[in-house]
Amino acid sequence: MAFSDQFLEDLRARIGLADVISRRVKLTRKGREHMGLCPFHKEKTPSFTVNEEKGFYHCFGCSAHGSVFDFVMETEGLNFPEAVEKLAGEAGMEVPQDTPENRERQEQRQTLFDVTEKAAQFFERTLHMPDGRQALDYLKGRGLTDETIKHFRLGFAPDGRNAMKAALAKDGIDEGRMIATGLIIKPDDGQEAGTGEARTGRPRRDSYDRFRGRVMFPITDARDRVIAFGGRILGEGEPKYLNSPETPLFHKGHVLYGLKAASGPARKAGTIIVTEGYTDVIALHQAGFENAVAPLGTALTEDQIRLLWKIVPEPVLCFDGDGAGQKAAGRAAERALPLLQSGYGLRFALLPDGEDPDSMIRSGGAAVMKAIIDGALPLSEVLWRMETGGRLPKTPEERAGLQKRLKDYARQISDQTLRAHFSSQFNDRIWSNTGKKRQGQGRYGGDKDWTPSMHLEPGNGPQANIAANESAQRVLLAIIINHPEIFDGVEETLGKFSFGEERLDQLRQELISVLLKDADMESDGVRDVLRQRGFAESLDVLFRDPLISSNRHINKDAVPENYRLLWNENVDLLKHLENAPEIEKARESGGNRIAQDDWEQTKALLEETMPGERE
Ligand code: UTP
Ligand code: MN
Repeated sequence: MAFSDQFLEDLRARIGLADVISRRVKLTRKGREHMGLCPFHKEKTPSFTVNEEKGFYHCFGCSAHGSVFDFVMETEGLNFPEAVEKLAGEAGMEVPQDTPENRERQEQRQTLFDVTEKAAQFFERTLHMPDGRQALDYLKGRGLTDETIKHFRLGFAPDGRNAMKAALAKDGIDEGRMIATGLIIKPDDGQEAGTGEARTGRPRRDSYDRFRGRVMFPITDARDRVIAFGGRILGEGEPKYLNSPETPLFHKGHVLYGLKAASGPARKAGTIIVTEGYTDVIALHQAGFENAVAPLGTALTEDQIRLLWKIVPEPVLCFDGDGAGQKAAGRAAERALPLLQSGYGLRFALLPDGEDPDSMIRSGGAAVMKAIIDGALPLSEVLWRMETGGRLPKTPEERAGLQKRLKDYARQISDQTLRAHFSSQFNDRIWSNTGKKRQGQGRYGGDKDWTPSMHLEPGNGPQANIAANESAQRVLLAIIINHPEIFDGVEETLGKFSFGEERLDQLRQELISVLLKDADMESDGVRDVLRQRGFAESLDVLFRDPLISSNRHINKDAVPENYRLLWNENVDLLKHLENAPEIEKARESGGNRIAQDDWEQTKALLEETMPGERE
C-alpha cells in the first residue's frame, strides 16, 4: 500500500530516531550526534552514529545507513509497510487508508502550498510598496532590521476587501483554493443565520480577504513551506492577532512558529527557547538567539513538547513573571509530567512581571535575556513553587497536605525511575526544611553541629534571587536584634544595604539609630525600644518567620562563632545578589513586590495561627 509523503513526514516528525534506535543500541550523545556500537556488525569501539537532525543513522565501520524505517526493517525483519504500521502504532497515529478520496485530498494539499506561497509573496511585496508604508514604519519602529524582516518574510495585507484575492486571482488561483487555505472567507448561507440569500433571491455575498490592514507573519512547516499566517493589527485594536483557521495544511497544535530555522542553531546551542509570541521569536533572533520558537497563541500541546524533545533534551519555556504567566508555566509543567522520560525534561525561565522577551531585550539587552535563560528552573522546582508558593510548610497539617499534592504530581510520571527520583526529591525537601531534620538524612543531616543557612543559597532564576535577597535581609536583622553586641563591627555594612521591603528597611534604620545611641544595649532592651517606637508588628512578623525561628544559630542561645559565620554568609550573599538584574530592577521600580506579598502572607498566617498572642 502507498503512504502519502505527508503522512510519512508527520510520522518521522513524531518519532525520535534516537529513541527508536536506543531500544537496541546503547547510545551516548556526542555533540550533534549519538554514538554507539553498531548493531549490524561486530565491533568493540563505536563507529555507529545517529543524526536526529538529518534523520539518518550511519556506520563508519560497515557502511550500514538508513532512516528510522530502514532501521526497524533491518532489525526486526519487517517490510516497509509493516515497519510503518508498527511505528505509527507506537506513535498513536492512524495510518490513512489508501483510498481515492485520500489520494485526492493529498493532491489537493499539494496544490494548496502554491496558494500560501503566492500569498506570502504578495504580502512581502506589499510591505515595500506605498500601501505598506505604515506597516514598514511600524516594524522599523519596533526595532526590526531589513534583514530580520526579510528573514521572517514579514509582510502586509492591505486594508481592502479584495486586495489579496484579486492579486492571487491574477496568478491563476481559484477561489476554492483560497478558501481552503483560509485566506479568504466565504460567507456561508447555512451558517450565517438569517441572511438566507439563496432563498430570498438576494445575491449571494462575495468572499473577502481574511487579513486586512495587518502585518503578516508567515507560518512555515518543517520543510519551510508556508502553511498559514498570523496577522497583527497596526497599533492598538482587537483582535491584536488574527491567525489562519485550521486547514488541510495547518494544524495549530502540531506547529511551532520558527521551528525550521531554529532547530539547527538549537541543536548547536543545546537549548531551544520557547516563548509566547511571534514578535518574541523575532526579537530573540535579532538579538542573536536563533534558537527560539513559539506556539501559535495556545498553550503548548503534547505534540509540540515531543517536537521540542527531538531537538534538545531540555527545552527552556519562557513565561511572563506575573500571575497569568506563572499559571501558564504550571499548566505546561503538569502537561509535561506524563510524557517525561529519563533524560528529557523542561526548564522554565520566568521573566519579570509584565515583560516578554521582546521588551526585555529592548530594555535590558541580550545579556539580561541570557542571564534569565541560563537561570531557568527545572520542572520539579516549578511544581514545588507552585505548591508551596515559595513558602515552607509551617504546620504538620500543611506539611502533610503538601506531601500529598507533590506525590500526586510524581504519580503522573510514567517512567518509573524518574517517578522515584521526583518523589524522593520532594520528600527530602519537605523534611529538610522543617528545622527538625530526620537523623542522618540529607546533606546536612547527622550530628554535624554547624548547619549552613540552607535555603539562603543564591538560587536559580530571578524569582529565586529576589527571594534569597529578602531572606538574607531578614536573617541579618534578626541576628543583630538578638545579638546587638556585633553591631560595633558591622555598623557600616548594615548602613550600606537598603532593604527592598519597606517595613524591613524602616526596621533596619530604626535599629541603627537605636544602637548608635547606645551600643551596649542588650537584646531585650533593643526589642523594648523598637516596640515603643511602633515596630511591634514588624518584630512579630520577623521572629515568627520559620526561616528565623527554626534557625538555632540566630536565637539568643546561639554561640557567637556561629551567628557571626551566618552573618558573614548572608552579607556575602547580599553582595553577590546586589548586581543581579532583577534586583536592580526591583530597586529602581521602588519596591520589591515579592517581599511585600511575603510580608503580608506571614502576617496573615500569624494572625490566623496565634490569635491574641500579639501584644
Ligand atoms: P501577546 O499579546 O503576548 O503577543 O500574545 P506579543 O507577541 O507580545 O505581541 P506584541 O509584542 O504586542 O506585538 C502572544 C501570542 O498569542 C497569540 C499570538 O500568537 C501572539 O504572538 N495571540 C495574541 C493571538 O493569537 N491573538 C491575540 O489576539 C493575541
Ligand atoms: Mn510583545
